[in-house]
Amino acid sequence: MTKRRSQHWYGKHDKDGFIHRSWMKNQGFPDHVFDGRPIIGICNTWSELTPCNSGLRDLAEAVKRGVWEAGGFPVEFPVMSLGETQMKPTAMLFRNLLSMDVEESIRAYGIDGVVLLGGCDKTTPGQLMGAASVDLPAIVVSSGPMLNGKWQGRDIGSGTDVWKFSESVRAGDMSLQDFMAAESGMSRSKGVCMTMGTASTMASLVEAMGMALPTNAALPAVDARRGALAHLTGRRIVEMVEEDLKPSDILTRGAFENAILANAAVGGSTNAVMHLLALAGRVGFALTLADFEIGSEIPLLVNCMPSGKYLMEDFCYAGGMPVVLQELGHRLRPARTVLGGDISAYAAGATCFNRDVIHSYDSPVKPAAGLRVLRGNLAPNGAIVKPSAATDALLEHEGEAYVFETIEDLKANIDRHDLPVTPDTILVLKGCGPRGYPGMPEVGNMPIPARLVQQGVRDMIRISDARMSGTAFGTVILHVSPEAEAGGPLALVRTGDRIRVSAREGVLELLVDAAELATRRAAWQPTPPHYTRGYARLYIDHVLQADRGADLDFLVGKDTRLVTRESH
Ligand code: FES
Repeated sequence: MTKRRSQHWYGKHDKDGFIHRSWMKNQGFPDHVFDGRPIIGICNTWSELTPCNSGLRDLAEAVKRGVWEAGGFPVEFPVMSLGETQMKPTAMLFRNLLSMDVEESIRAYGIDGVVLLGGCDKTTPGQLMGAASVDLPAIVVSSGPMLNGKWQGRDIGSGTDVWKFSESVRAGDMSLQDFMAAESGMSRSKGVCMTMGTASTMASLVEAMGMALPTNAALPAVDARRGALAHLTGRRIVEMVEEDLKPSDILTRGAFENAILANAAVGGSTNAVMHLLALAGRVGFALTLADFEIGSEIPLLVNCMPSGKYLMEDFCYAGGMPVVLQELGHRLRPARTVLGGDISAYAAGATCFNRDVIHSYDSPVKPAAGLRVLRGNLAPNGAIVKPSAATDALLEHEGEAYVFETIEDLKANIDRHDLPVTPDTILVLKGCGPRGYPGMPEVGNMPIPARLVQQGVRDMIRISDARMSGTAFGTVILHVSPEAEAGGPLALVRTGDRIRVSAREGVLELLVDAAELATRRAAWQPTPPHYTRGYARLYIDHVLQADRGADLDFLVGKDTRLVTRESH
């Protein structure tokens, strides 16, 4: 048998082995745990500043029980946590930093496999990207969603209802008092947003890619069965180390295509595009925006907010991801999972208990609801729109642009009563891409101008180089690439220009002639960066554009070598 990786730390009978073992023993570990058994890292993004992940301490204990039971030695370690609702300017700025933290922690320590405990939006992709870059056996346990929000006798959903309530207050249909009171009813337990936002989307895709045990995505955070799942995950990672089953064996092109299909079926977040592109880059193959077109004909099966009306608790009780995978059936690509077999085994025996929550493939919530990729002279490298959360009539539209040059411009002017906009106007926002903001925040679902909200308008076309929250909805065209700050054509749009959008044809065209655009380009200047030092500076200098997943250029790929140099 080849020497286990951890034995390069703990199996040596010299000064270095003494130091590695002795300092670990200060925690009360006896001699025999260093006997060559698999050492399992538990990579924890628990933090009180990431409330969505505040249940992960308990889950870590459950994982440890499973690891001990299977004959492994569990060691928990912290990594940077990313609280989506708490960080400024945006948690996305730090996804790549988390991935570096995870990668270097795994590489530097004497572990043989790792359990990734994440949940809030950027923690799952950040951890996966880091783990894939080292390629030790790895498996995910997600935080799980919060219980359904409850307020005034009805269910309310994280994020989705915040946007609706906010527009109702601006329209004068909801009192500020009610708005404030809804806060407490929305977040009633530990866990991630209980809509099909980015966190639950990523947990669903992790399950569809076979990187977590079945049912991981939807079990509520406070459901005792999630503790049992964590326990079983602890057992399984020990076996995965014995089998040398690594992320590169699981995260194949087939797994990514299954994730794209599943994202369409669950009405998943547009953010999944960014994270899958970046993760594929780490694994070592080029996933492109064009690959997402395989999802465009997949119907919406899961009737959850923001594309539908239910919440993750309902999705769980209806049968969760195993039912979705069963419905996708023969469309799924063959792909190995953390259990060692094919992904089809996750669907075997699944039963749907509520067909209004999880529809059948033949009777979907909406037909052909997957993300659409748009291209044209306004987005030469692509942009995306989420038809399942959009207004059908606006998906084929031509209108006049009203341009906000920056987020500050938007905030200062969106509610001006003389803003020259109609429901047919196309709102354009610049300066919110990876480099420009920096970090590509979730501001693409710009508020509808107050004067239109008061007329009852609830949707209009919005175009930007930003992202939007997975909990948001509307006819919102996102991730325009290249971004304005990188000199993309978005930088050249002016108020009054006409723009044509066709989701059916996959077109996003700025209807301005080439000579005029060339004149504008000659006069264009980038703005000085907002950050001149530290990680943000590094990010601005090295971030790739949205069509490459906004990873840092020097992080693409992996390095699986063992570090042999000692510190003493
Ligand atoms: Fe953390 Fe939604 S803010 S999951």
